Amino acid sequence: MPLLEVSGLTKAFGGLMAVSGLTFSVQQGELLSIIGPNGAGKTTLFNLLTGIYRPTSGIIRFDGNDITGCKPYQSVRRGIGRTFQRTTVFGWEKVLDNVIIGQSLHVRTGVWGAIVRTGAARREERRIREKARELLAFVGLSDMEQRLSGNLTEEAQKRLSIAMVLAADPKVLLLDEPTGGVNLEEIGGLIELVKKVQRSGVTICLIEHKMRMVMSISDRIIVLNYGVNIAEGTPAEVGANEEVIKAYLGARRVA
Ligand SMILES: Nc1ncnc2c1ncn2[C@@H]1O[C@H](COP(=O)(O)OP(=O)(O)OP(=O)(O)O)[C@@H](O)[C@H]1O
Ligand SMILES: [Mg+2]
Repeated sequence: MPLLEVSGLTKAFGGLMAVSGLTFSVQQGELLSIIGPNGAGKTTLFNLLTGIYRPTSGIIRFDGNDITGCKPYQSVRRGIGRTFQRTTVFGWEKVLDNVIIGQSLHVRTGVWGAIVRTGAARREERRIREKARELLAFVGLSDMEQRLSGNLTEEAQKRLSIAMVLAADPKVLLLDEPTGGVNLEEIGGLIELVKKVQRSGVTICLIEHKMRMVMSISDRIIVLNYGVNIAEGTPAEVGANEEVIKAYLGARRVA
């Protein structure tokens, strides 16, 4: 059974079909890339999968359950993690605290424990802090834990935003252009991090414009154009697809 199954997924904004009749599935452990020209509907698809938008029609199944119409907090709890196209760290907070905030959904002792600082609450706090440190080590930011997040480079902020999402123990991680705004020399390290996340057992859906990255990292690729799935296959299959080449050349001519 696939981990994620989307069928006939459609989102209309007025007369505009941002996502139109999309059907695909993602297997456990797979790295699936979603590519396509600007405005193709990639981010809208993520917004549908994470409950930010309600589909106009279609069904989303995740981990054996119908999650169509779930609220964002419900999709996080079910194991769907997501980073945003524009980096969203809390810039005025320290790096370590950002990861702690990312875990806040899992704190069990609640407000009362935080006020009276029960033994359980203190143990929970220690556990959360330790886990945040482990996650920072995992993404390669151990030596920055006390820095203000807003002072990190764009590349380090991307790493931090991945640690923040991993803090909620996602089964699938949706990455919306994880190398956007990052220097070319620094992209290799981010690619390695994405592979490392996949090796750790997390399924990945990746939106990316950098074709070399997509071709080297993906198990499978889906190509969207005007909200429609125009091709699907291995990197080699998609790279040789006439319609894909046309969609990209067309987009370049317009741009
Ligand atoms: N909230 C919204 N209201 C109206 N139209 C929207 C909304 N969100 C997205 N759209 C439109 O839906 C289409 C798809 O947008 P989307 O952001 O999903 O594209 P994208 O593939 O992520 O593009 P990019 O590569 O530039 O990030 C676009 O035409 C966009 O203008
Ligand atoms: Mg987008």
